[in-house]
Amino acid sequence: MNSRTSAVLASGVRKQYAGGAEGAGLNGFDLEVGAGTVCGLLGPNGAGKTTAIKILATLLALDAGQARVAGFNVVTEAALVRQHIGLVGQYAAIDEILTCRQNLMLFGRLNHLSGRNARQRADHLLEQFDLVAAANTPASKLSGGMRRRLDLAVSLIVSPQVLFVDEPTTGLDPAGRLEVWAAIRTLVREGTTVLLTTQYLEEADQLADRISMLKAGRVIAEGTPDDLKSTFGTNWLDIVVDGVADIDAAKAILQPFAAGELHIDAESRRISIPVQDRIRALTGVTTAFEDAQIALEDLSLRRPTLDEVFLHLNSSVPTNRQPEVA
Ligand SMILES: Nc1ncnc2c1ncn2[C@@H]1O[C@H](COP(=O)(O)OP(=O)(O)OP(=O)(O)O)[C@@H](O)[C@H]1O
Ligand SMILES: [Mg+2]
Repeated sequence: MNSRTSAVLASGVRKQYAGGAEGAGLNGFDLEVGAGTVCGLLGPNGAGKTTAIKILATLLALDAGQARVAGFNVVTEAALVRQHIGLVGQYAAIDEILTCRQNLMLFGRLNHLSGRNARQRADHLLEQFDLVAAANTPASKLSGGMRRRLDLAVSLIVSPQVLFVDEPTTGLDPAGRLEVWAAIRTLVREGTTVLLTTQYLEEADQLADRISMLKAGRVIAEGTPDDLKSTFGTNWLDIVVDGVADIDAAKAILQPFAAGELHIDAESRRISIPVQDRIRALTGVTTAFEDAQIALEDLSLRRPTLDEVFLHLNSSVPTNRQPEVA
């Protein structure tokens, strides 16, 4: 672990809530987030995502282990950590009655900016988060996506080195999610390190450079989205035959290429096979069907998805094993 290039470093962090269920919390949580990158913390409900964010943001004390954020120790240098981070929690801290600009100005003043600097910063953030048209709209009248963008803007009044975002787009419609994703990408382009938690695997796939999968308070897999997909997911080859009568012959042709059980949907005349070497399977299957003179209506490769990885890890991997993907 390198504390100079890592914006977040956690090792062996433990947290047991007083009166909480046995094992709930964090049980040896390790994380390393490179400066200027986006890390997605994924895991089922109760896995410990919010607990991890709260500890890293110094809102909650850890019981054991160590964590550093922006180079500072979260326990012994908590005040310094706070000066270098932004936090967007699940629920917004913005004032409902105030307009977007007023909210930004207020947070600027709370962060000791002069009136003039606060105004300049507010204008810059309104621009950056595409909120200029809503500058004079009270927060209570914003759409979900605009509101979440205002949350982000408010947390960036004094440009933090590291931004923690707990579930950036929960409850937003697809358009709102796209708006927030664009806002997060803008931040990253400007050099902010982002640690986000999400239940939406597509969100992690879209935004994160690396993903840590959390289960029962510890990281059970870590890597780039592609690493995780190729390690824990399956490539599928789908074929659709022209006629139902060809299904049996097609099964016999496909069997040698299949790395697992065939899935057959007779009604749609579709056969899906898991494959290991995508291209070899594709060319081999194409040739075999040509040789057998069986016409195909469709032939396609399907890449594994993060959903598949998530389901796999949350069903079959015991929590005391740590397959390292990095
Ligand atoms: N204040 C608390 N007191 C006792 N137990 C708690 C407290 N906060 C969280 N827990 C427990 O700790 C575990 C981890 O909770 P946490 O909120 O970190 O999970 P999460 O991964 O963020 O879940 P979600 O996806 O639902 O937001 C859960 O079992 C939860 O019930
Ligand atoms: Mg949570």
